[in-house]
Amino acid sequence: MGVKIIGLGASVPLKLVTNEELSRVLDTSDEWITTRTGIKRRHHSSSSETTSYLSYKAGVAALRSVTHSDDSDVDTLIVATSTPDRRCPATAPKVAAMLRLGKIRALDINAVCTGFIYALELADALIRSGKSKKLMLIGADVFTTILNKQDRTTYPLFGDAAGAMILTNSDDDNILSTYTGSDGEYENLITIPDGGTESALRPDGVNADVFFRMEGKEVFLKAIAHMKESVSEALNLSGLSKENVDYIVPHQANKRIIDTISQLFELNKDQALMSLEEYGNTSAASIPITLVRHVKVGTIKPGNKIVVTAFGGGITWGAAVLRWPDEKINANVI
Ligand code: ACO
Repeated sequence: MGVKIIGLGASVPLKLVTNEELSRVLDTSDEWITTRTGIKRRHHSSSSETTSYLSYKAGVAALRSVTHSDDSDVDTLIVATSTPDRRCPATAPKVAAMLRLGKIRALDINAVCTGFIYALELADALIRSGKSKKLMLIGADVFTTILNKQDRTTYPLFGDAAGAMILTNSDDDNILSTYTGSDGEYENLITIPDGGTESALRPDGVNADVFFRMEGKEVFLKAIAHMKESVSEALNLSGLSKENVDYIVPHQANKRIIDTISQLFELNKDQALMSLEEYGNTSAASIPITLVRHVKVGTIKPGNKIVVTAFGGGITWGAAVLRWPDEKINANVI
């Protein structure tokens, strides 16, 4: 039994924020952000554009994009997010209700920026085992809600977004391999220290440190090392070599990281697909929104072999090798 990709869509909030606009309120510049990261713009949520709302919209876009499908209903929804609507319960059941998917299996996964790859690996296993026949996975994050607006080292890097993919069981196979890993020894590299059980159980019970923080330089090096390892492992598992790869879609955190990864696999610059100049680092949404962008403009074509890879908090990492489906997918960002 194979796993087929039949739908893809994404959603961003209405408000667009340019580097110039950020430079008016923060000690930063378009020149610094562009040369150090490649980011030019990002979208910021307004009060109603929550993780569930962006997920719902991405889900609608993915359902609309399907051109070839049997009649079976979506029976599973996985939402990868580290910025859920609430600490309890999970966001996925709410999104399933908003999308009127019925009383289906619905769960969240938190692997921060690697969330979409973790969700894809679980989705693949659920379908191959026969537990699920049609599944929607969504990567969604509203990082503006956890960032310190005065922190120039993090605030300019992130944008809010959601991306959704629909998978089904099939004789075709579009997921050729998946690979994931983690190392909790490094949880402090990317973290929100307070606000969970650890701080609540301290005698003072004070939530002093509730903003997202990242050790940029160390994360930069670990992201390259673990995405390199992930791509190699996923290629090995798929039986393909780097010469067979048409495109790589790395997590959209920093253009310099993406350039390094593509050089390591001797890919030319056009083979590393990007969307970060437009959306910034959208965490769990970054891979699906980049796929949407390049399916929409026709860069990604039927039969293309695509390696997706990510690195994020945990620390976590992973990759998957995809064979793009032959049937048309009307992917859009709405
Ligand atoms: N504007 C102007 N100057 C700045 C800014 C800014 N926005 N941010 C930092 N600086 C300054 C620093 O203060 C520092 O100044 P100093 O030399 O006087 O001390 C200087 O610029 C250089 O700072 P660095 O942190 O060394 O800059 P670097 O080149 O490493 O870029 C960045 C920082 C963009 C964060 C980079 O390290 C990076 O991309 N790291 C990896 C991020 C990543 O991959 N994340 C993935 C996972 S994210 C997740 O899971 C949610």
